[in-house]
Parts: sequence; structure tokens; C-alpha cells
Amino acid sequence: MDSTLLAKIHMVSVMIFLLIYVVKTVLLFTSRAKLDSFTKVFKVPEMIVSFLFLVTGSWLFALLGGIKVFHLIKLAFVVLSIPLAIIAFKKYNKGLALVSLLLIIGAYGLGEMSKNKAFIPAKVVVANDDGSQLVTGTRTFAANCAFCHGTDGKKAYRAATDLTKSTLDAGLVQQMVREGSKGKMPSYASVLSPDEIVAVGAYVQTLRSAQQLSQ
Ligand code: HEC
Repeated sequence: MDSTLLAKIHMVSVMIFLLIYVVKTVLLFTSRAKLDSFTKVFKVPEMIVSFLFLVTGSWLFALLGGIKVFHLIKLAFVVLSIPLAIIAFKKYNKGLALVSLLLIIGAYGLGEMSKNKAFIPAKVVVANDDGSQLVTGTRTFAANCAFCHGTDGKKAYRAATDLTKSTLDAGLVQQMVREGSKGKMPSYASVLSPDEIVAVGAYVQTLRSAQQLSQ
């Protein structure tokens, strides 16, 4: 499935899931009877929504083939909060319900905070690594950028630009790599060295000329 559509379904199901959670927690503190009837009515929708957000989340991870430190903490929060919530609502335990809600909101916050953070680089070894700009660029691109752009520049994960069609000049490509694009592409200023940024920029431009030469 298209990763942009998946990301949208993921986002919407996370929002609905959070909303159901907040309502249930508020009801736990105010009226057990209302909580019971709400739980009954929303049992199936809640199951569908949790299923959707877990499946789309895992699917996005699988398509990307990369992970951030933030993702790992977020995952731990979600995995911890679900059994806590099940126990909390079954036993009407307000303390546990609050801890679980905080973990879920924390996971959501971590997801938002990590948007501009780079992925853990893939381990990439290039044969005959002579330290030249081309080899450094190839290695840097494969380790950090191919998750979203693909090794050929065309993968377009979550609407990433097809780099073979990019028309940015060397300066703008380097600026994009340094600064990223808020919420869409991470910034690499604190991850890559200035030399690596220049090298990966030059590599990005070779993706394009290969395409243009073959036209
Ligand atoms: C999380 C996915 C992701 C990763 C990882 C990523 N990019 Fe991007 N990249 C994007 C998205 C999305 C856009 C489009 C941004 C926008 O429209 O504002 C983009 C745009 C670009 C552009 C602008 C192209 C144009 O013509 O507008 C360049 C150049 C680029 N990326 C290079 C890189 C390089 C080099 C790396 C690795 C150092 C990298 N990207 C890593 C998602 C990513």
C-alpha cells in the first residue's frame, strides 16, 4: 500500500484511540456506570482502531526498513501501557489508568518530537573504500537517505521527493540535507560531518544525471 495513505490511516487511528482512552479515563473518575456502558458500546470500534494503528505502524516500519531511538522508546511506552490499561479498567484502578494514559500520551509526544530526528544509520560497507568523495557520498546516502528515497532516489516513502527529478542546485541540496523539511525530512546538520554533507549532495546530483543521460 502507498506509504502516504498508510501514514494518514495511522495518524487518524492514533487520534481516535487516544480520544477513546481519555474519555474512558475521565469516566473512571466520574461514573463507573457510564464507563461500563461506554466500554460496551465502544468495544468493537476500540478493537478496530487499536488493530489499525498497530498494523499501520508496523507496516510503515517494515516499508521504511529503519528506526530511530525515539521510536524504540515510543514502542516500549505503548507496549507497557496496553496491559496496564486492561488491568486498570477491569479493576477500576484509577492510579493505573492514569499511569497508562500518561504513557500513551508520552508515546504520542515522542512520536511528534522525533519527526525532525535522523534515523539510526544502516550499516553500509562500500567495497574499495578509498575515502574519495564519491565513495563517501554513496555510503552516506545508503546509510541515511535510502530508507525514504531508495538507493535509486525513486522510493518516495511518505511523499519523499523523487531525487532523479529534483532540480535543486548543489547549494540548495546541501541546505536541504543540513536543515531537513519540518515534519517531513530529518535535518542532518548534527549527524553528518560537513564533508559528508557535501559528498552526499554530490551523490544526489549523480542520481539525476544518470536519469537525464539515459533520456
Ligand atoms: C524520513 C524520510 C527521509 C529521509 C531519511 C531523507 N529524506 Fe530527503 N526528503 C524527504 C521528503 C518527505 C522530502 C520532501 C520535503 C518537502 O516536500 O518539504 C525530501 C526532500 C529531499 C530533497 C529536496 C529535493 C527537491 O528537489 O526538492 C533532497 C535533495 C533530499 N531530500 C535529500 C536527502 C538526503 C541526501 C538524505 C540523507 C542524508 C535524505 N534526503 C533523507 C524524506 C526523507
